[in-house]
Amino acid sequence: PDTDKIPRALLAWYESHARDLPWRKLPNALKSEGAPDPYHVWLSEIMLQQTTVAAVKPYFAEFTRRWPDVQALAAADEADVLAAWAGLGYYARARNLIACAKVVMSEHDGRFPDNETELLKLPGIGAYTAAAIAAIGFDQHAVVVDANVERVVARLFGIDAPLPGSRSTIREYAEQITPHFRAGDFAQAMMDLGATLCRARDAKCLLCPLSDHCAARNLADPTRIPVKAPK
Ligand code: ADE
Repeated sequence: PDTDKIPRALLAWYESHARDLPWRKLPNALKSEGAPDPYHVWLSEIMLQQTTVAAVKPYFAEFTRRWPDVQALAAADEADVLAAWAGLGYYARARNLIACAKVVMSEHDGRFPDNETELLKLPGIGAYTAAAIAAIGFDQHAVVVDANVERVVARLFGIDAPLPGSRSTIREYAEQITPHFRAGDFAQAMMDLGATLCRARDAKCLLCPLSDHCAARNLADPTRIPVKAPK
């Protein structure tokens, strides 16, 4: 594909098709009020691990109502936070949430660090989450690869070697197309494309802003990619 054209084509699509999610500031000037709050980005990314956007929305609203900033969450009663988390599952995430808020207060003056290296040192923050917070919360150039992005990249480049073995190749291609501007919008646009058009069992290529640059578009069945290794 014509890799130079991918970022602008995707970002132009995102201007009018970004999902309106409560932790986002939309690129649309009418809705945007500056940069997103890194606390919101962090909280949403932790909640979205292994949980759908639809399921996360009410929890995100409740958490930000009761604990509007990292200082409030660091001071929260663990039992209250665990009770509010009930239904999201994986309680280690909720325990790490408080631990992380405390470290941000005690070691970072209550502000999330703005780079992947420092973010990675915080409790509960792994490679994906560090990249997501750096890109979305601080507009840093970071390569954000979740399952949606993996699928979109595999299709764009026609990577038909099976997952998980092809993961490092997919990551290299993701690095190639991630722009040095608007990294946060780019990451979220890739996620939205994967969630709304370039879906696992349904590829709506006719609506896709990247179809001219996509290898899988020319296959009889684009959803054949990514290929999963037989279990
Ligand atoms: N899944 C994980 N993070 C997301 C985000 N910021 N936007 C949409 N879907 C997501």
